[in-house]
Amino acid sequence: MIVICGTPGTGKTEVAKRLQKFTFKVIHLSDLVIREKLYLKYDEERSSYVIDLDKLIKRITELYNQNPVKLVIEGVSAETLPNHMVDLCFVLICEPGELEKRLRKKGYPPSKIAENLEAERLNLIWGEALDNYGPDKVVVIDTTRLTIDETAQKIIKEIRKRKIG
Ligand SMILES: Nc1ncnc2c1ncn2[C@@H]1O[C@H](COP(=O)(O)OP(=O)(O)OP(=O)(O)O)[C@@H](O)[C@H]1O
Ligand SMILES: [Mg+2]
Repeated sequence: MIVICGTPGTGKTEVAKRLQKFTFKVIHLSDLVIREKLYLKYDEERSSYVIDLDKLIKRITELYNQNPVKLVIEGVSAETLPNHMVDLCFVLICEPGELEKRLRKKGYPPSKIAENLEAERLNLIWGEALDNYGPDKVVVIDTTRLTIDETAQKIIKEIRKRKIG
C-alpha cells in the first residue's frame, strides 16, 4: 500500500483524489475516522478529533488485507502506520509562504495556521515518516511550485519506477 502524508495544506487530499483515476482505492483518513468513529474524543480547543490509533490501525489492517497493493492512504497519522504494510510513503512538503496561503484559503484559524507552519518548518511529519518507514521507502515531493496534477504525476512515476501497484 501507498501512503501520502504531510503537514495540513500540503495537498494530500487533492493529490490523492487524482490517483483514483489510476484505479487506486483511496482512503482519506479523516473521513474514515469520522465515519467509523475511530476517535477518542472531540477536542473543542483544537477543533479536531483525537484519533484512536489502535482502532484506526485495526481498521486499516482489515482494508489492507482486502486490497494490499492498490491502496492509497492519505492524511494526518498516515506517517505512523505499521511499516510492514507500507510499500512506499510520499511526504508532501511546502514552503511556509505558500503553505500559509493554502491554509488561509482553507479557512483555518490563525492559531492552527501558526501551529502547522511551525510543524512544517521543523519537518515533523517528514521526520516521523523517516523514523517509521526508513529512508528507502520515503519519497519527498516539494509541492510549493507544482500544480496538483504535477504532484500526482510525480507520484505515479515513482510508483511505476518501483513496479508497485
Ligand atoms: N501543488 C499542489 N498540490 C497540492 N495542493 C495544492 C497545490 N497547489 C495548490 N494546492 C491547494 O492547497 C490546498 C490544500 O490542499 P488539501 O486540502 O489537499 O491539503 P491537505 O494536505 O489534505 O490538508 P489537511 O491535512 O488539512 O486535510 C487546496 O486548496 C489545494 O487546491
Ligand atoms: Mg486533507
